[in-house]
Amino acid sequence: MSVRAFRSMRPAAAVAALVTGILALSGCGGSSLSQSGDTQSSGPVKIGLLVPLSGVYAQLGQDMRDGFKLYLDQHGGKLGGHTVDVVTADEGEGPQTGVPAAQKLVNQDHVSAVAGVVNSATALGLRDFFDESKVPLLVANAGADDITGARKSLYVWRTSFANGKVAGALGPTVVKEASGPVYLIAADYAAGREMVAGFRKTFVAAGGKVAGEEYSPFGKTQDYQPFLSKIRTSGAKAVFAFYAGAEAVSFVKQYQQFGLADRIPLYGTGFLTEGGALAAQGKAAVGVKTSLHYSTELNTPRNTEFVAAYSKAYSKSPTVYAVQAYDTAAVLDKALAKASGGEKLATALTGVGPIDSPRGRWSFDADHDAQQQYYLREVRAGSGDTFVNAVVGDLS
Ligand code: PHB
Repeated sequence: MSVRAFRSMRPAAAVAALVTGILALSGCGGSSLSQSGDTQSSGPVKIGLLVPLSGVYAQLGQDMRDGFKLYLDQHGGKLGGHTVDVVTADEGEGPQTGVPAAQKLVNQDHVSAVAGVVNSATALGLRDFFDESKVPLLVANAGADDITGARKSLYVWRTSFANGKVAGALGPTVVKEASGPVYLIAADYAAGREMVAGFRKTFVAAGGKVAGEEYSPFGKTQDYQPFLSKIRTSGAKAVFAFYAGAEAVSFVKQYQQFGLADRIPLYGTGFLTEGGALAAQGKAAVGVKTSLHYSTELNTPRNTEFVAAYSKAYSKSPTVYAVQAYDTAAVLDKALAKASGGEKLATALTGVGPIDSPRGRWSFDADHDAQQQYYLREVRAGSGDTFVNAVVGDLS
């Protein structure tokens, strides 16, 4: 296939084509992937943890490792009565690295299940591989709309969020608060496109008007000034943005340095101001409002206990990424008590009841997604020179 033909494809189709290419190059056709993934019922189990340890989302991957490990440490290194051997693999910045890393976990390391996956493009590239391999994949971040719902598989479950849902939760609030049209901007890949589409859908349905829409090259943009100039001249009265990790740091800092923070309120999904990104943004992020299913500031006994344990273990505050991975370990704990691999483990996931999470209680819905509360958050000064995402409301 020519590069031109590849560029003109829709993101999901382009990822599928890319993955077919990777599978062909690595000699792993779909039909040869099938395996049971079964293990001895009382023996140790191997779990693959596939998270970015490099690239713009490396910090997110580290948080997920920490969250997963905290759950294991709190449960004597066992899940469902099995001693767990965690095999970690680097997802990198997308499917080019993430897909072969997942294949290695399944085909060479023979893990019973894989947890992790941050990037939507990687998740889209992995859905069919896990479906055909008959090894459960627990997606602990990537929000790609097309791996659950209508395209759900017995082998693919998501403990995090769907892009359309976390972004769509914010639309009606921005209609109420913004004094005019809103500019939409995101990283140019599957998640950015879906976040904008999800926000636009509920925002326009509630009467909102769009001032403009732009996508910055993912993983390559360091200077956001050309984009910020367009926002300034667009007449926008507010901005909705999707960025995460290192890109969120650059975007939010430059938004303030360019003089927009005081003039055009900035909204986004909570990834924009989460954890290490917020610490690096500091004062530049004050006032940014976001939708997310977690905040360290949730005032519940379960979250207070979790924040204390996580902070003690890692000398930093937890993040949504850590919670999603922690909850994924909790899901595996329940399912592995019933079955240790293959179709039986996947079927056990169907029966996993509510998870008593630091984010609040949640369960899998019929789409294989987390059915959960979304919160409206606002960045405010915390104690000392820290900044926090204060919870200012519930979103439906
Ligand atoms: C995604 O690619 O789905 C994604 C990545 C990072 C986030 C959220 C979503 O923080």
